Amino acid sequence: MQPGGSVKDRAARAIVLAAREDGRLAPGAPVVEMTSGNMGAGLAVACAALEHPLVVTMSAGNSPQRARMLEALGAEVVLVPQINGAPGQVTGADVSAAAVAAQRIAAERGGYYVNQFHAPECMRTHREATGPEIWEQSSGRVDAWVAAVGTGATFLGVAAALKERNPRVICAAVEPEGCRPLAGLPVTKHRHLIQGTSYGSVPPHWDGDLMDLSIPVTDEEVERWRRALATQEGLHVGYSAAANVAATVALLSSGRLPADTIAATVLCDTGLKY
Ligand SMILES: Cc1ncc(COP(=O)(O)O)c(C=O)c1O
Repeated sequence: MQPGGSVKDRAARAIVLAAREDGRLAPGAPVVEMTSGNMGAGLAVACAALEHPLVVTMSAGNSPQRARMLEALGAEVVLVPQINGAPGQVTGADVSAAAVAAQRIAAERGGYYVNQFHAPECMRTHREATGPEIWEQSSGRVDAWVAAVGTGATFLGVAAALKERNPRVICAAVEPEGCRPLAGLPVTKHRHLIQGTSYGSVPPHWDGDLMDLSIPVTDEEVERWRRALATQEGLHVGYSAAANVAATVALLSSGRLPADTIAATVLCDTGLKY
């Protein structure tokens, strides 16, 4: 329910403002990014407000609704053919192809290539805003934090903020069964339902000290929780949100934490674009 319907609005705003401030982005120049949809939604809102055109490249394996939503938010969308994924299942190789296209377009049009996987502003904004808000809104009672990992900015930024305030907060990353590099396991399944996360490798700014454990989720659990959240809670959210809830429930019912544990997680985006 954030602006743009995704968890990326804060990170996007921070990136655009920082690039304008130090001259990487000229006034009115285009912003270009590779995105599976979420960062595109955040950037579209930030770019519209700050008066920059936005071009996003996206793997053609993402749902067509994503492209339509980004266009509705004011972005120009360039679809990049898949390398080894399938519709609805985007692999690391598919994402790399979309990133190459974004860099080429940025060079051609004199635009600023965001490169969210390497933008320090993303984690910083979650450390300075999202984490402290969770802490304050739970009156400091949060015991556990659970989130799936794309760039890792949401997980790491919030984990850092919570652990600064209470080093005993348990921080759990969510990974699809068979695709768990954060747990140190070999990747045996590149295709999974949790679009926008778990690309089969450890993200560039990863800090393993902030992760206490990795929780596996199956595609079946994710489907089940996506439906349950919609039909029982009135929350029509995306797959990573469902994965986060599935993993949080698994953690709370695992018996490894006290019965009165309070866990926080994030519903990363609306389900309307899937
Ligand atoms: C749908 C969705 N969920 C979760 C995430 C993970 O967020 P982060 O990049 O902060 O790890 C992303 C990132 O793109 C996403 O698109």
